[in-house]
Amino acid sequence: MKIALIGYGAMGKIVERLAVERGHAIVSVVDETASGVAPGDVAKMLAGSDAAIDFTVAEAVRRNVEACVIAKVPVVVGTTGWNEQRHEIKDLVTLGGGAMVFGANFSIGVNLFYRIAQYAAELFAQFPEYEAFIEEQHHSRKKDAPSGTALKIKEVISRYVNTGEIAATRAGNIPGTHRVGFDGPADQILLEHTARTRDGFALGAIMAAEWIVGKQGFFEFGDVLNKK
Ligand SMILES: NC(=O)c1ccc[n+]([C@@H]2O[C@H](COP(=O)([O-])OP(=O)(O)OC[C@H]3O[C@@H](n4cnc5c(N)ncnc54)[C@H](OP(=O)(O)O)[C@@H]3O)[C@@H](O)[C@H]2O)c1
Repeated sequence: MKIALIGYGAMGKIVERLAVERGHAIVSVVDETASGVAPGDVAKMLAGSDAAIDFTVAEAVRRNVEACVIAKVPVVVGTTGWNEQRHEIKDLVTLGGGAMVFGANFSIGVNLFYRIAQYAAELFAQFPEYEAFIEEQHHSRKKDAPSGTALKIKEVISRYVNTGEIAATRAGNIPGTHRVGFDGPADQILLEHTARTRDGFALGAIMAAEWIVGKQGFFEFGDVLNKK
């Protein structure tokens, strides 16, 4: 595949390395110098690519998605923090005949963790003496808090149990840790996912790009895994 990278920070560079290892070519890089550039002009920079992968900042996502729709290039969005614009961006993609996969977390382990957390919440819903809580930890460079992954965990388990505020820690170089706990009068059950490196996120984004080529619509990363 010919891949366009939108965002060339920590994640963009890992995607580049792993995509080349998988036999793909990086044909275009849209970096921070494109801040303030109109969607139509970004679209021209994407011409000739089979898919685009976006790891930028929340404020740039709408513009980047619009550019991909104009260029008719399917896009994988790994950037987090744009939940409030979700409906607007979905309309942009579906009404414009575009294709997009997004995910707060492209690690396969985390996507399985969502399902484990959901099952646990369903069980604990029958025992209200246990109170649920969510914690997350990330490196100090991460801009959004709480993480998109923690918000997704909250969305999934809130169907069954109440949770308080998500506790977010920003320190050092932590690639990403998420915990769901159920605390009762006599004991505590703690579920934890720990990312060891950020390569797993980049690989999941590349797999999503391979999957979205030739499709139309607005998808979440779970859809990619469900169809495996
Ligand atoms: N879904 C997942 O699995 C996953 C995994 C890891 C991270 N993330 C998310 O991915 C995003 C990026 O993370 P990161 O660690 O790579 O951050 P990062 O190192 O700060 O990289 C973001 C890059 O995008 C650039 N940028 C800013 N505005 C732009 C624009 N308008 N157009 C193009 N590029 C622009 C930034 O430039 P400047 O530095 O000059 O501003 C920076 O180089 C964050 O939202 C993070 O939460 C998601």
